[in-house]
Amino acid sequence: MLTPTPQDKFSFGLWTVGWSARDQFGKASRPDLDPFDSIRKLSELGAWGFTFHDNDVIPFDATEQEREQLIGKLESTISDTGMTCEMVTTDTFAEPIFKDGAFTSNDRSVRRYGLRKVLRNVDLAGRLGASTFVMWGGREGSEYDSSKDLFASFERYAEGIDTVAAYIKSQGYDMRIGLEPKPNEPRGNIFLPTVGHALAFIEKLEHGDIVGVNPETGHEQMATLNYTHGLAQALWADKLFHIDLNGQHGPMYDQDLVFGHGDLISAFFTVDLLENGFPSRPGAYVGARHFDYKPSRTEHLQGVWDSAAANMSTYLLLKQRALAFRADPEVQAALEEAGVNSMAEPTLAQGESAADLLADDSVSGLDVEAVGERNYGFVRLHQLAVEHLMGAR
Ligand code: GCO
Ligand code: MN
Ligand code: MN
Repeated sequence: MLTPTPQDKFSFGLWTVGWSARDQFGKASRPDLDPFDSIRKLSELGAWGFTFHDNDVIPFDATEQEREQLIGKLESTISDTGMTCEMVTTDTFAEPIFKDGAFTSNDRSVRRYGLRKVLRNVDLAGRLGASTFVMWGGREGSEYDSSKDLFASFERYAEGIDTVAAYIKSQGYDMRIGLEPKPNEPRGNIFLPTVGHALAFIEKLEHGDIVGVNPETGHEQMATLNYTHGLAQALWADKLFHIDLNGQHGPMYDQDLVFGHGDLISAFFTVDLLENGFPSRPGAYVGARHFDYKPSRTEHLQGVWDSAAANMSTYLLLKQRALAFRADPEVQAALEEAGVNSMAEPTLAQGESAADLLADDSVSGLDVEAVGERNYGFVRLHQLAVEHLMGAR
């Protein structure tokens, strides 16, 4: 078990440890936690930061006075513990008013109400110094294709996000929006189901410069996609503004397991990317290592804190292994043999045009049979990774 420190930049959603394990089939199996106690406990475990939905701390029906009081308590907990409130998000899914979404509800009064809730929460995030504002549109979507004007739905979704982004700019907050993709659950089909959909959507926004993505491990894996590839494309596009790390076993319900408790090899390469960067562009990801998991329903309070610690310990173990993997001379030779390093070289030479390429005899006369016989050695390389992951090297 490795012990985390604030320098590791681990953070947790208050709704993660705070989940009392109520599900569609059963009652809560644990008591509700006091969110202020959770911040203290996470700090004791070595976390650096925390994140929350407005309603994780402030009940939906709180009066203005109660709201102020709770915010004051949050501020004093932050200064007592030194914990960073790095991200704030809005609950636009729990209350029945949001059953058909917030920004894309067919009911305009709901859209206006939802937008106001989010804007007020931006002010709270600004007040607490959060640098990221996550927007997970869990109820933005449908079960029935007949129920939506899909063109207008994207228009309204973009209108909502642009309004929030413009508001952030107008208030001078040093804050960026992270859109969180998810393919389904709770809606049958959620809008912006994957990292790719979200990146394409951002391109259409007026204020897309401060809008990026918050990809979650399990959400991409529910869609049978490769999480590390999603992170990589977001990094390449300079749009990886936040991450939700957890564990998942392929396409099934959203498991929200501890990070590494799903596809461990994939988790290894996720950490490798976050800590080592690309071979052609080395350097660690600078943002929070944020966990969005759920302590399983079988666990009681001991299991809540054991599982929180497990996320951080697993991450640190994988970091240790990923650094050793990259430093191993045998791995470096295998990477070279596999051609991984040659990917950084542009395909055309400096100043070479498509016409030049067409006229290049060394290309037209290439011995395609010989090149087709190349043994890339990817399997041997991957086995070296597995051996590092298993601590056998
Ligand atoms: C889920 C989501 C949420 C969001 C959270 C922040 O599948 O329930 O991952 O946990 O991350 O609402 O916006
Ligand atoms: Mn999830
Ligand atoms: Mn999430």
